[in-house]
Amino acid sequence: MTSSKIIAGNWKMNGTATFLKECLSYWQSLSLVHNLVICPPFTLLTEANKSIHSSKVSLGAQDCHQKLTGAFTGNISADHVKETGCSYVIIGHSERRQYHGENNDLIKAKAETAISSGLKPVICVGENLGEREQGVTLEILQTQIEACLPNSSRDFLVAYEPVWAIGTGKAASLKDIEEVHGFLRKLVGSGIPLLYGGSVTAENCKEIISLSDVDGVLVGGASLKKQDFGRMLCGQ
Ligand code: 13P
Repeated sequence: MTSSKIIAGNWKMNGTATFLKECLSYWQSLSLVHNLVICPPFTLLTEANKSIHSSKVSLGAQDCHQKLTGAFTGNISADHVKETGCSYVIIGHSERRQYHGENNDLIKAKAETAISSGLKPVICVGENLGEREQGVTLEILQTQIEACLPNSSRDFLVAYEPVWAIGTGKAASLKDIEEVHGFLRKLVGSGIPLLYGGSVTAENCKEIISLSDVDGVLVGGASLKKQDFGRMLCGQ
């Protein structure tokens, strides 16, 4: 029997309330093998939570602020996220690092705050293409891990998302994923789920999640394809 893994769908700045409702209804009608964490935009979270009725489905947000309240126009706090019914929050995604200047210190602060609000942070790490080509991937990951992981609790997940694999259609090779996840496992120890993200599709998902030290995947584009994502959730 296939063991249950985590399949997280990061919708980024995509999707509508109607489409999300349709997807949740479809996915929950299937015989789910894996656990789904669906991460739509903030504005869809409360409504999405009302459509969840399977113990194999939970909700996640894509970011939260490092402070719980205050004069931070336009930001959303971990308490707000929690109030929508979320169990998870993605922290430090490479798009946040790239377009919002988020650094390791900020990511750690956000992860600590998320935990204090009762959320499980999914902390993203990953090297860029230049770093991969220079052969410094493991050093970069070690620096990110040492700087970003919270001290207060071990109730978090780590997502390895090589920046060059995100949205490019070029997933890391199985060999590279296995090497990096083995390295991360040694760094973080047991009991911390390790997800892989970057061009995961219905075609490569099954092989990737069967690798040792891969506890699940974080999926962008393919999580917006209702049927393909459904196949991934069913272990097909
Ligand atoms: P893609 O699956 O579209 O490559 O995106 C990966 C990602 O960024 C998930 O967080």
